[in-house]
Amino acid sequence: MFITFEGIEGTGKTTQIKLLTNFLKESGHEVDVTLEPGGSRIGRELRKILLNMDSTDITGECELFLYLADRAQHVGQVIKPAVEAGKVIISDRFADSTIVYQGYGRGLDPKLLRELNDVAVSGHWPDLTVLLDIDPEIGLKRAMTRNLQDNKMQEEGRFEAESIDFHSRVREGYLTWAALNQERFVVINADQTPDEIFTEIKEKVVERLQSR
Ligand code: TMP
Repeated sequence: MFITFEGIEGTGKTTQIKLLTNFLKESGHEVDVTLEPGGSRIGRELRKILLNMDSTDITGECELFLYLADRAQHVGQVIKPAVEAGKVIISDRFADSTIVYQGYGRGLDPKLLRELNDVAVSGHWPDLTVLLDIDPEIGLKRAMTRNLQDNKMQEEGRFEAESIDFHSRVREGYLTWAALNQERFVVINADQTPDEIFTEIKEKVVERLQSR
């Protein structure tokens, strides 16, 4: 089973992925955790270019193709083998991030991005996507604090430095895209305690596992 987590910056995806991984392992599942960008060796090189504050001269199209390249490598080397081995694989971001950030955020055509993603994922769309939804003002404040604490502002801060308007378009884009893909998405209010959020996620994941 392939599960992805999506949302703007600072929604608490990392915490929830850890909680879900522990829960699934305790229930007897074999679980791999991965992320985009940077889920493969080549992807880690692409991540440096994509997230560094110095990449301000990147064009929208170049950014798009680097995310797609990262994904194609990630699917081939990490996701496909895990799914074929019968594992649960959880990815922190995946193809929906491209549709929402490069599409609704940057203004590229979401329909075209869906088609380009079809090439990159080669049949491996997620079985379940958890969208953690939060007000961008709250999320960005959390993400900035985390980057400052981890001293990652320069290395990883390019998207956090985007305007609040950009992040609001991304948030709305996620909600629109989730409504268009209801069979796969669950939307969770991330402005709750980690335990409250996890209770909702657990319920949805168990439901999905039982229906397979
Ligand atoms: P993160 O690892 O802190 O979530 O940072 C990844 C950033 O990359 C995040 O701001 C969203 C952005 N992104 C895209 O714009 N398009 C994509 O396809 C992916 C996977 C991420």
